[in-house]
Amino acid sequence: MDIYQMISSYVHKEQAEGMTDLFSIMRALDRLGKAGNTKKPTILKMQTVLFNSFQNLLSRTEKGHPIHLSSPFEGCQTIEGGLWEAQNWPVENSDSFDAIIKLAWGHNTMNLPAHIHEGSSRVVVITKGKGFFHFSTTDFEDFNGQNISMLEITEGNIICFPGDYIHTFSTNESSSLEFLSYHNPYFGLDDPRQYTLTPFEWRPISYHHSAS
Ligand SMILES: [Fe+2]
Repeated sequence: MDIYQMISSYVHKEQAEGMTDLFSIMRALDRLGKAGNTKKPTILKMQTVLFNSFQNLLSRTEKGHPIHLSSPFEGCQTIEGGLWEAQNWPVENSDSFDAIIKLAWGHNTMNLPAHIHEGSSRVVVITKGKGFFHFSTTDFEDFNGQNISMLEITEGNIICFPGDYIHTFSTNESSSLEFLSYHNPYFGLDDPRQYTLTPFEWRPISYHHSAS
């Protein structure tokens, strides 16, 4: 069974309760990312039919467990976030310290610096809008703001990457973005381990300015 068939098997269960299935999908994607090349992000794309079913699962989950979004998030006023922690919900392995964060990015969010999440891998599923994923294969200590790749991301994209991977996201004046970000393990949003800036500070605004 490939990863899309796996997602399909969960999203088509049509149960009222979607939390367990949502965590199962995220955990499977996390395992897939870790099994792949850990020097590169794993980038996937759900086709429209599958994505629509995924959205349906997400809506059912949110209906049963509304998420409250608040800003600032990671210091950014234009990013709102809220979360589901596995240990708080009726999911399998509920003693597991993982979580799904929902994030909403307003227009012109270009100031979240490049960073890593040491020891905590990520799965990101784009659920609405479009934006930009900036990433670098350079080692953390050697990062000097060069060799940054940029990928335009849109609904249905999935990105899996290890926690020590240099990255950030952005939107521009015509785009806004919503995504789910799966954290494994989840340290807590106020924990210093959650987020480490690169010694050389780089923000997407420099990419957007040079591209315009
Ligand atoms: Fe991040």
